[in-house]
Amino acid sequence: MMGSGGSVSVRSPATVANMVCGFDVLGFAVNDPYDEMHIRFTDEAGIIIINEDEYNLPTEPELNVAGAALLAMLEELNEPIGFELRICKHIKPGSGVGSSAASAAGAVVAANRLLNDRFTKEDLVRFAMNGEKVASGVKHADNIAPCIYGGVTLIRSIFPLDIIELTAPPLYVTIVHPQIEVRTADARGILKQQVLLKDAIRQWGNIGGLVAGLLKSDYELIGRSLEDVLIEPVRSILIPGFDMIKQQSKEAGALGGGISGSGPSIFMLSKDESTAKLVEKEMHHIYEQLGLEHHTYVTTINQTGVKFIK
Ligand code: HSE
Repeated sequence: MMGSGGSVSVRSPATVANMVCGFDVLGFAVNDPYDEMHIRFTDEAGIIIINEDEYNLPTEPELNVAGAALLAMLEELNEPIGFELRICKHIKPGSGVGSSAASAAGAVVAANRLLNDRFTKEDLVRFAMNGEKVASGVKHADNIAPCIYGGVTLIRSIFPLDIIELTAPPLYVTIVHPQIEVRTADARGILKQQVLLKDAIRQWGNIGGLVAGLLKSDYELIGRSLEDVLIEPVRSILIPGFDMIKQQSKEAGALGGGISGSGPSIFMLSKDESTAKLVEKEMHHIYEQLGLEHHTYVTTINQTGVKFIK
C-alpha cells in the first residue's frame, strides 16, 4: 500500500531462528514484538536513516543493517534513487529474536513497494542478508526469510538461495528475554567448527523429524525433535537459568523449545494458549528467583511476514 505523499509504512516482525535443531536453516516469524518503519523517496540519491527509538543505532547507511540492505538493493537497481527511512524499533537489539533481520527485511520490503514491487521475495532476502552481515559478520537467512515470507521457513541453501515455506499446525510461542545482551557475533565465535559424526546424525534426525512433524501436524513428533546436541550445549552457558527454564516449561506442558536465535531469549512452543501462559508464569518465577530483569511475550506464528500499514 502506498501511503499519502508517496510513503510506505510497515510492521516488521520478530523471528525465532534455528528452531532448536536447525542452526542457520530453520526459523519462524511471530506476531509480537515487531518494528515499525516508514520509507519515502528523496530528491537526492542515497539513503537517509532516522532513528525514532531509544537504541541509538548507527545512522551511516553502511553501518546500519537496514541501510546495508537498501544499499544492496540500490546497487542492483543502478539508478539515482534516494530513500529516507524512519525506524522505530520495538525489538531490542541483541535480544535473539531477529532484531537486525526485522530492520533489514522491513526496509527492503517497504522500499520494494515504493518501486511497485519490482523485486521478488527471494531478491529481497538476498538484499536483506547484507544487513545480517553488518550485524554478525556472516550472511544467514534464517531470520530474514521468515520475516519476509511469514510462517516457518527452511533455508535449504543460501548460495544459491533455496527457501522452502513449511506449513505448521497452530502453535503458541512463549518467549522470555532476560535483560542481558548476547552479541550474535560472539555467540557464533564460541561455536566449534567441527562436529562428531554421531552428533551430526542425531541432529539431522531431529531436523527431519521437526520438518515432518510440522507438515503432518504431529505435535508429539515436533516436541521430541526439538533437541539440539550441537549448538545449545555451547551457547546455553551464556544464559542464566536456561536448564531450569527448559525443564520447568516442559513440566508445565510445553512441547519443547530452546535458545531463540543466538540468545539470550528462550522460546517454548505449546499446543494451546493456556499452556503457553503457564509456561510464561514459570519463566517469570524462575527469573524473579534469580533476580534477573526480563520481558516475556505469549504470541503465535505470524503467517504474513512484513505487513503494510497506513
Ligand atoms: N542462526 C543464527 C545463529 C541466528 O544462531 O547464530 C542469529 O539470530
